[in-house]
Amino acid sequence: MIHDVIRASIKGEAVPLELIRDQSLTISDNLMALVSQGFALVTPASRGIGLASAQQLLTQTQLPVVATARRNCDEVRDRILSCKTLSSDAEKRLRMFEVDVKHESTISSMTDTIRKEYPETPLRLALTVPGILHVDKSPSQVDAASALESFQVNALGPLLLMKHLSQLLPTRSASAFEPTSASGSNRNNSLNLPSHAIYAMMAARVGSVSDNSSGGWYSYRASKASVFQLAKSFDLYLRSRSGQKALAVALHPGTVRTDFTKEFWKGRDMLEPLDSAERLLRFLVEMPPDIKSGRGRCWDWKGNEVYP
Ligand SMILES: NC(=O)c1ccc[n+]([C@@H]2O[C@H](COP(=O)([O-])OP(=O)(O)OC[C@H]3O[C@@H](n4cnc5c(N)ncnc54)[C@H](OP(=O)(O)O)[C@@H]3O)[C@@H](O)[C@H]2O)c1
Repeated sequence: MIHDVIRASIKGEAVPLELIRDQSLTISDNLMALVSQGFALVTPASRGIGLASAQQLLTQTQLPVVATARRNCDEVRDRILSCKTLSSDAEKRLRMFEVDVKHESTISSMTDTIRKEYPETPLRLALTVPGILHVDKSPSQVDAASALESFQVNALGPLLLMKHLSQLLPTRSASAFEPTSASGSNRNNSLNLPSHAIYAMMAARVGSVSDNSSGGWYSYRASKASVFQLAKSFDLYLRSRSGQKALAVALHPGTVRTDFTKEFWKGRDMLEPLDSAERLLRFLVEMPPDIKSGRGRCWDWKGNEVYP
């Protein structure tokens, strides 16, 4: 029976609760490991930095990885798995959900399914990355419908993801995760995961008020500024709910060669998405959870703080 549970969990199928709760079940080390190692989540992961982050997490950790896309989940799944460096079990560890942050029901449906299928498994590492840019260089270019969409995806999106995903993070009384260390053939590649959970939201340097020296991009700047505030407030919440078992931060990924920056590719040095994702993940797993650390603040891919 235990094998049914493990097989179903790994294949991403529903694990009947009665199987897990059955007192006659001898819970093996394998199942304990599955439950206690937690899972990672990247939303969205259809392209760009989200796609690269999902690939890095599958390559550099042994965690089950939940990834999302607004549509065409099968195609996105194949895209994620097309990365050459993935380990042979990556396919089994990847689970897709359809999520569009403009529709809250898609977020709550994902969270409900995760809770039902993995009742005891906490969220260990989350990256929320939705972002769109409608260029408005001067006040007269601001278009209400486009600006509203920017706020919906860039500000309300991370807010709603936080609302639903927060319940999956460990509480103060939860067991700490077993920290992982590089081993075997992946020695140079593996992320050393800490014993606490990490919740990271993609902001952008242009969302920083103190860094703003050129103006423009009104709706994008304003919507991304809110992510700095969200990370701070959410981290304060986690300090009280989870203590040192979970922290929240905002991130700036650098200037990265994705569809987002396509207009500016020519003649500019840019990070490749996999490099940016790797640098951000390495930075994240090294951040300690104590109050004096950088939790609740915004950090760039080099590990430098971006002030609000
Ligand atoms: N690239 C950079 O240099 C840079 C710099 C600073 C900050 N950032 C931030 O980093 C994040 C990722 O950027 P990127 O460069 O990877 O951009 P990208 O390649 O354009 O990807 C944007 C992602 O956002 C998703 N998205 C758009 N609307 C959505 C919605 N309603 N619900 C859910 N997902 C939605 C897209 O999904 P679809 O594929 O379905 O459209 C796509 O996965 C963004 O938040 C961006 O603001 C990027």
